[in-house]
Amino acid sequence: MKKRIGILTSGGDCPGLNATIRGVAKALYQRMDNNVEIIGIANGYSGLINGDYRVMQPYEFSGILTVGGTILGTKRTPFKLMRVIGDDEVDKVSAMKKNYKEMKLDCLLCLGGNGTHKTANLLSEEGLHVIGLPKTIDNDIYGTDVTFGFHTAVDIATESIDRVHTTAGSHSRCMVVELMGNKAGWLTLYAGIAGGADIILIPELPYNIENVCAAITKRAEQGKNFSILAVAEGVYDVEEAKMKKKERAAKRAEQGITTATHRIAHQIEEMTGFETRFCVPGHMQRGGSPSPYDRVLATQFGTYAAKLVEEEIYGVTVAMNNNQVVANRLEDIAGKSRLVPEDHGMIHVARRMGLCLG
Ligand code: F6P
Repeated sequence: MKKRIGILTSGGDCPGLNATIRGVAKALYQRMDNNVEIIGIANGYSGLINGDYRVMQPYEFSGILTVGGTILGTKRTPFKLMRVIGDDEVDKVSAMKKNYKEMKLDCLLCLGGNGTHKTANLLSEEGLHVIGLPKTIDNDIYGTDVTFGFHTAVDIATESIDRVHTTAGSHSRCMVVELMGNKAGWLTLYAGIAGGADIILIPELPYNIENVCAAITKRAEQGKNFSILAVAEGVYDVEEAKMKKKERAAKRAEQGITTATHRIAHQIEEMTGFETRFCVPGHMQRGGSPSPYDRVLATQFGTYAAKLVEEEIYGVTVAMNNNQVVANRLEDIAGKSRLVPEDHGMIHVARRMGLCLG
């Protein structure tokens, strides 16, 4: 009997999804020869809910190592709505279980971030055979040192910082670069250090605008005519840190802003006199070809998932621990996220370099 393996990509895309899909597929065909059939499920859990899937052919996994995005398509299907029956009256969990059965799957591989893993765990609790694979440029999946997509995003974000560096110097300006990361500051911290930012602001460390401006003024006193700020999109200041999410959003709406970045730019101009610009690389950070690092990581993770399939180890997700690829139980990691700890080595590096962290 052929094994039938379903595969889906859910949540925001990132470079390395196709490389991982390829790693899984090639290793499965290699290990099981003709005894495996791969079913591609379209647009994440949405395709599983709606029965949008097809049997894929081995040739479809060739030539995709370097291709960004996902050949399967993806969609955000929020975990918190999985058990909520909406206007369409579809019971999403029952529909996913029904389609899993109809597809005659032996196992379902779910490539995604935190939300995807919560739903993967829910399906596993419901008795389906599920294996997760950790993707996200945010690098915030609990239990793994790294996720695929992260290092490519660091490369892109670093290049953005490099490019504003030269224009900041030419114009004697402050440049504020807003990087992705609503809750986790890994991307901003790594790209900030790699790009030589002078000030790095991350959501885990609420900032004080006085400290930020003091750092800029101090640099000016040392004859430095520009400053570069790497700012995570989810940052907030020490006052906002005391507020609930809704209260913070209401205050920002009053101020006519959504993210802190342009408020920071405005405050810097007012308080230091430095002409200041902000720029937002946005989804460029998630686009394009994966870096060689991510291609290798994706292949390590994908081939390991194939091994788990063959050994029938389910209810787990692939992870990297101290340079070893391992499997973590979904129930141990779902619903937790991995944020930058205050005493993380990279925070110490930044402080030793004299960078301002807000
Ligand atoms: O989770 C990845 C991520 O890129 C976050 O860094 C960012 O806040 C979010 O997705 C953006 O989501 P969307 O693509 O839905 O706008």
